Amino acid sequence: MKIPLTLNDKKIVLSAEPTDTLLYILRREQLYSVKCGCEKGICGNCTVLLDGTSVPSCKIPMGIIRDSSIVTLEHFKNNPIYQDITTGFNQAGIHMCGYCSSGKIFTAYSILTKYHRPTLEQIHTAIKNLDSCCTDFTTLTNGILYAVAAMHAREGKRTNAKK
Ligand code: FES
Ligand code: FES
Repeated sequence: MKIPLTLNDKKIVLSAEPTDTLLYILRREQLYSVKCGCEKGICGNCTVLLDGTSVPSCKIPMGIIRDSSIVTLEHFKNNPIYQDITTGFNQAGIHMCGYCSSGKIFTAYSILTKYHRPTLEQIHTAIKNLDSCCTDFTTLTNGILYAVAAMHAREGKRTNAKK
């Protein structure tokens, strides 16, 4: 079947079977930031934004995403919040080879956009199942807290510039 959608801000039509997973099709389209891990919706390595919400692409059948907007990490790098997250991760000493970056970054994005000042409990709940073999739980938590601070600092500068 033909499936029209917006992929990384470009309108396209993809050929796929309704039961093909979004993960499979994105990798076919050479968007290799999307990694195949557990294929059970748990590890986060295949995470993308679907209409602005982070989802595991291994659990999304192509048959349900007609006319949706998909953003992968390749394109998300243009978002100012990506800069906040990488600033925070750098401050915490998190180095990323790319294998579990999508899960970590899009989970951080979900936290930053859902909670203005996330509690430790909210962060821990969001990251508890991530396959984050390169980063321990405490360091990832710190990275997200630094990212929250970076976002607030950027937003403060923008507000001051408008005054
Ligand atoms: S491969 Fe999709 S969540 Fe693990
Ligand atoms: S980004 Fe390389 S293992 Fe986590």
